[in-house]
Amino acid sequence: MNKVFNFSAGPAMLPPSVMAKAQKELINWQGLGTSVMEVSHRGKPFIAVAEKAESDLRKLMDIPSNYKVLFLQGGGRGQFFSVPMNLAQRGKVSQHLVSGQWSQIAVAEAEKYMQADVVAKTQEREGKLWVPTQDHWEIDDNAAYFHYCPNETVDGIEIDWVPKSKGVPIVADMSSNILSKTIKVSDYGIIYASAQKNIGPSGLAVVIVRDDLIGLARKDTPSVFDYQQQSNNDSMYNTPPTFSWYLAGLVFEWLLENGGVNAIEVLNRKKAELLYACIDASDFYQNKVADENRSKMNATFHLADAALDAKFLEQAEHAGLVALKGHRFVGGMRASIYNAMPLEGVQALVSFMQDFEQKHG
Ligand SMILES: Cc1ncc(COP(=O)(O)O)c(C=O)c1O
Repeated sequence: MNKVFNFSAGPAMLPPSVMAKAQKELINWQGLGTSVMEVSHRGKPFIAVAEKAESDLRKLMDIPSNYKVLFLQGGGRGQFFSVPMNLAQRGKVSQHLVSGQWSQIAVAEAEKYMQADVVAKTQEREGKLWVPTQDHWEIDDNAAYFHYCPNETVDGIEIDWVPKSKGVPIVADMSSNILSKTIKVSDYGIIYASAQKNIGPSGLAVVIVRDDLIGLARKDTPSVFDYQQQSNNDSMYNTPPTFSWYLAGLVFEWLLENGGVNAIEVLNRKKAELLYACIDASDFYQNKVADENRSKMNATFHLADAALDAKFLEQAEHAGLVALKGHRFVGGMRASIYNAMPLEGVQALVSFMQDFEQKHG
């Protein structure tokens, strides 16, 4: 087996023990002589998988009983339009904090369905990208909802505080940081996440929605994206992505077996500290994000001499450290260090970076 440490931003690496279990069960799942992909979603064996995945996620995130958990299709972008469509009856205007590419795209999509106001944007402060804190802007009490993205995958920008509103539901795109740290679900009206970073295969979206925000959709909302329809049908109004749901369940089990979100948060912090310490150790590597907004899931960095980029990537790959190229809009490097990335992966990257600097600095 070719062992590499995969720093891809998504689809991202999954825990090796989960992949091994899925492989072992692939052809003969639960002794049924078929794979999980080949059985009806309405049959008892799959219903048990679906229910266990939901209950494990509820345990992991301590999701209160007045929230529904939906397993939907369409990934993160599917929610960019589902949210405005589903909350239309709450008002005509949504408000948005734009901290990077993803929250910007969410605005463009919301604008198709309602007026979408931007309350603030990431700006440059002392040469670094910084997200204005809430003392610089306000949420209008009449807004239908407030949307933000607590972890911007492209630039590696994290917002470590929860916006406060007087009753306006806070909607968070947690695609790239769900399950990476403890959060209080009741701070939010809706939390959604595409699966391909900390949950499982791409295409799946997990949506955690407070009961009172269900049933407020525009009349023309397609049924498969209507929270009410999907909630009434336990996310099986249409045939759900059964394999993705099953795999998400394995990832939730893995996380529970490894101490849950509290334990992974400690490890994630350690990984990020190690990597940023290496970046900060000299001017050879530079991170362009303000300290308070540095992402613990996606660490971006540039080499002071961009002419060395190609060599860096080639040698990293040779050392088994793959998918470090930064997003095409940003350039440089990006190391995505989601839950499944072990500490040894980050240690290997840091030692490669130190070595590369010694040779080329
Ligand atoms: C923060 C964030 N939101 C949304 C998306 C879009 O997800 P999808 O490609 O599943 O539509 C991504 C994709 O990487 C993301 O990182």
